[in-house]
Order: sequence, then structure tokens, then C-alpha cells
Amino acid sequence: MTAVTTETGATDSIGGVILQAENVTMRFGGLTAVDSVNFTVHRGEIMGLIGPNGAGKTTFFNCLTGMYLPTSGQVVFDGAVLPPKPRKVVQAGMARTFQNIRLFGNMTALENVMVGRYCRTTTGPLTSILRGPKFRRDEAAVRQRAQELLDFVGLGHTTDQLARNLPYGDQRRLEVARALATDPKLILLDEPTAGMNPQETRQAEELIFRIRDLGLAVVVIEHDMRFIFSLCDRVLCLVQGRALIEGTPAQVQSDPRVIEAYIGTGPEDASALEAELQHPAESDGDSGDGDA
Ligand SMILES: Nc1ncnc2c1ncn2[C@@H]1O[C@H](COP(=O)(O)OP(=O)(O)OP(=O)(O)O)[C@@H](O)[C@H]1O
Ligand SMILES: [Mg+2]
Repeated sequence: MTAVTTETGATDSIGGVILQAENVTMRFGGLTAVDSVNFTVHRGEIMGLIGPNGAGKTTFFNCLTGMYLPTSGQVVFDGAVLPPKPRKVVQAGMARTFQNIRLFGNMTALENVMVGRYCRTTTGPLTSILRGPKFRRDEAAVRQRAQELLDFVGLGHTTDQLARNLPYGDQRRLEVARALATDPKLILLDEPTAGMNPQETRQAEELIFRIRDLGLAVVVIEHDMRFIFSLCDRVLCLVQGRALIEGTPAQVQSDPRVIEAYIGTGPEDASALEAELQHPAESDGDSGDGDA
């Protein structure tokens, strides 16, 4: 990994390309949900993906993670074209969370994270059935790693609680722990702060920085502009499936086409964006109340 100077002037540990989407297009019948999108993510980079409701952000994630086979275009991850199979994508080192949380509600927090870990164990079906020493060793290692990840995301106290009984914000963090359990090189987060209060949102931001500090690349979809602009190294704005602008938070936030794209698509998005554009620096300074 080579250190590079980012456009904001800060020397950072952003490295070579980890993900390259080339001309990715996804059509559903007559609707083009994603339209010839090019997208590059570097190692150690936090990349934001914004755009009004229905812009194609989640569909694009689905194309990146093998859930959809793009109508055209390709995704190169870590030097190889990705097979359109979610399991193989996970094994290649890409993990994700979902806009609509997908946990195993009747399993404990620890068990949910252990599920993520199994794609990295070599335990075969026979070993599992016989439950011999290798199975017990593997099981203990998986359990220990899962607990470490629960601690990492701040859920160390929830080990034996059923996932469905956790507060909403904790469920989102549990999904992150399960994704991390697959040992990814890149993690994709689809609206990780949806439904969170301001304090939980700040904790989520801090968690994403710590994930990046582990050496992972992060791609994050969010409607919370303050969150996106203070978190990301670069931001891509999608509108009606097309890449409208890509650049640093400063470049995207000062581009009149971005606010134009939001106005008329819903008062919530437009007013959130306008507020952020008017007070872009506040997010850095408002954490002085000591409860983060
Ligand atoms: N499986 C599908 N079949 C048909 N149309 C779909 C499908 N998935 C998404 N779409 C359509 O594709 C467009 C993009 O949807 P998508 O969910 O990707 O948007 P989004 O940017 O994630 O929006 P939001 O911010 O509301 O989550 C929408 O018009 C949606 O209705
Ligand atoms: Mg979405």
C-alpha cells in the first residue's frame, strides 16, 4: 500500500484500487435502475454513495455483491472479475449490510456473528456431524472471534440476547459485526444510521472510522448529508441511475446540480441537504457535549 495525498491535502493511507465497477447497468423491464455507472474504490478509503429515493443506490450495491447479474458492465474486485454469486463475493472479501435489517431474530447476538464466520472455516460436513476434536477447536475459535467482534462494535454485553430483542440501533451494529466476521477487505453499508438518534449516529461514524483504520475500504449509502460529508473521502451522487457527480465532500456539496437533484423528490431529502449545505462545518464541532 502506498501513501497518497488526497485532494483535501491530507496525507492518508489510501492505497491501490480494491473495487472497480465498469459501465454497470441494471435494467428491470423498461426501467433502467443503474445506468452505465463507473465507480472506483481504493484500499483504506471511505466512499459515500448518495442520491434521492429510487436513484438506484441499493440496486447498485446488489450488482456489486453478486445479488444481481448486471444487464451489462462488470465488477472487478481485488484484481479479478467478480462471479455473480453472493457466497463467492463474500469469500472474495466483500461484505455488506442491508437497508432492511436481515438478522436471524431467534438467534443470539453471538450466534448471528458466528454465522458470518463460518465462510472462513474449513470444517466439512463430516467433521460437523462427528463433532470431534477439530470441530470443537474450530467452534471455540469461531466463538472467540465472534465475541471480539461484538466487543469491537460496542455490543460486548449483548452476547446471549436474542437479536430480535435488541434495540434498532444495536441491530444495525450487529449486522456490521456479522459482516466483519467474514474478514472482508471491503464493507458496503446500506443506510447504517437509518432510524438512529444523533448519539447513535455519532457512534456509527466513529465505528466506521475504526473499521477503516483496520485497513478496510468502506462504501456507505446514506441520506444523512452531515454524516456523509464528515465521514467520506469521496462521494458519488447517483440520480435516476446515473452518476451525476463524483468528488470530495467539498466538491459535491458545492455543486448546484446536487441540490437540484434532491428538490422535487421529497421535502425530507431536500431540506436535509439544504441544511447541510448551509452549515457544512458544524458536524465537526458539535460533539463537545461529552456523551459520544
Ligand atoms: N427487483 C426490482 N424489480 C424492479 N424494479 C426494481 C427492483 N429493485 C429496484 N427497482 C427499482 O429500481 C429503482 C432504484 O431502486 P433502489 O432501491 O436501488 O433505489 P435507492 O437509491 O436505493 O432508493 P432508497 O434511497 O429509497 O433506498 C426504483 O425505481 C425501484 O423501484
Ligand atoms: Mg436503497
